[in-house]
Amino acid sequence: MKLVDPFQRTISYLRLSVTDRCDFRCLYCMSENMQFLPKKDLLTLEELDILCTEFINLGIKKLRITGGEPLVRKDIMSFFGSIGRHLDSGKLEELTLTTNGSQLEKHADNLYLAGVRRVNISLDTLDEKKFAEITRWGRLPQVLRGIDAAQKAGLKVKINVVALKGFNEDELLKITSWCAERDMGLTFIEVMPMGDIGNENRLEQYWSLKDLWKTLASHYELTDLAESTGGPARYFKIEETGQKIGLITPLSHNFCESCNRVRVTCTGEIYTCLGQEGKSDLKTPLRSSDDRKVLQEAIQQAIGLKPKGHDFDYSRQTVEGKMTRNMSHTGG
Ligand code: GTP
Ligand code: 5AD
Ligand code: SF4
Repeated sequence: MKLVDPFQRTISYLRLSVTDRCDFRCLYCMSENMQFLPKKDLLTLEELDILCTEFINLGIKKLRITGGEPLVRKDIMSFFGSIGRHLDSGKLEELTLTTNGSQLEKHADNLYLAGVRRVNISLDTLDEKKFAEITRWGRLPQVLRGIDAAQKAGLKVKINVVALKGFNEDELLKITSWCAERDMGLTFIEVMPMGDIGNENRLEQYWSLKDLWKTLASHYELTDLAESTGGPARYFKIEETGQKIGLITPLSHNFCESCNRVRVTCTGEIYTCLGQEGKSDLKTPLRSSDDRKVLQEAIQQAIGLKPKGHDFDYSRQTVEGKMTRNMSHTGG
């Protein structure tokens, strides 16, 4: 079975957001007094399992669990334990998650047992004070302990850094060599206009990865890598350290033509593009019938509406293509 969108892109990657809540309040992601969804609107873990299972039956090979912060959802480890069965059957090729790392100390071993082999951890600074400032509620030592626990459990770690003008520009080399020393992957992300974030200004936050690349190139020999994981990142290698660095550049270079993913929220909405408002409801077809063909048809119909790409643009010194929802709603 294969899911194909109107632009002949095969959809093999599902990002499932299991909660919109988070124990941090990153300045570029949320406002301090975020309104979260009422808990009663959430699909149960059993319903999320059914949803994922039908996506896998339709050809999804890679499943990434996101949030908010996925590991703050109650009993989430039972979900991982159960959904891991699709790895054993060979239908699913990868089960992974994107996390802020705050709960990894507790859960790393069980994630490994469930079949997870790789985690992406969001971390924008190695300075304790700046970390508390950018995440408002996060504490760096707790996340560092989480990273240690993940590596000790045998999980490969990739660090996601949102490039923020005037905030972590001065840490570029430090973060890069820290990842090399610890044998962790590293990806930089341009800040996207997702949701209302209080008084913060996107244009002031935006640090183009073209500039970041130039700075790295003045210190290291860089080689472009042609390889693609099917994801939005482009990769290059630092010859001196052998490190592979990823760049996610929705603003300075669009990559939508190779998009392979869709997103489902914890209330059962499917968003077929991170940068568009279009969504379809999967909760009703999931709950209205035990015949899973109904759900499968709803999934196929939604993918039939997948748009060509996002319209994010800061090039005219204004924020264009802004989304009303925050990143935490669909998990990035
Ligand atoms: P791997 O390549 O498997 O490591 O994962 P990934 O890069 O798909 O996942 P990750 O959760 O680490 O994604 C990093 C960030 O990239 C997300 O949080 C988003 O901010 C951004 N991103 C991921 N997919 C898309 C996409 O389709 N469009 C845009 N504009 N940004 C994306
Ligand atoms: N732009 C880019 N990345 C963002 N993230 C959260 N909000 C934004 C935004 N507006 C990142 C987080 C995490 C991932 C899930 O998305 O830092 O790495
Ligand atoms: Fe939480 Fe991630 Fe948003 Fe930070 S970026 S508030 S860690 S969901």
